[in-house]
Amino acid sequence: MAHKPLQIYLKVVDTQALDSPGRPRLIPSAKWNLSMPEERGPRFPPWHEKFYLHLNTLGTRPGYRKRGAGSMLVKRRCDLADLSRINAYMDASQAGVLLYQNFGFADRSESRSEEHLIVSMARS
Ligand SMILES: CC(C)(COP(=O)(O)OP(=O)(O)OC[C@H]1O[C@@H](n2cnc3c(N)ncnc32)[C@H](O)[C@@H]1OP(=O)(O)O)[C@@H](O)C(=O)NCCC(=O)NCCS
Repeated sequence: MAHKPLQIYLKVVDTQALDSPGRPRLIPSAKWNLSMPEERGPRFPPWHEKFYLHLNTLGTRPGYRKRGAGSMLVKRRCDLADLSRINAYMDASQAGVLLYQNFGFADRSESRSEEHLIVSMARS
């Protein structure tokens, strides 16, 4: 991680529960990418190139979902993005769409697959 300073990892832990190595259990974690479009290369769809902050991964451990942990990690980064006036985007799973909408992300998908499994979302 030290050699990838533009990759930001956020996590929430349960201090009351330990994993097998004896560390507090990881509940959700998120990976954000802060690299600028010119640093990260071409993106698809093309409107992605106007967006900077990229939510790469978000996952909450089953058993801890619907308790606000995932929202904490999205809110934290969105608040910082607002301070810096930067916009954000992601390719969301259906499970995450409502959560992201709560923080101002809107569906920017240009096409709909039959199952519509992945939703391209952005916030500015
Ligand atoms: C999507 C995912 C990350 C959400 O994580 P989470 O920790 O459950 O998220 P939150 O608890 O913050 O929010 C989820 C919902 O619970 C609701 N919620 C939050 N706290 C709550 C509480 N105390 N009681 C009841 N509901 C609550 C939120 O309002 C939200 O509802 P909404 O989606 O209808 O708006 C999780 O379901 C997951 O890991 N899914 C599998 C992987 C995945 O799809 N990741 C997303 C990739 S883009």
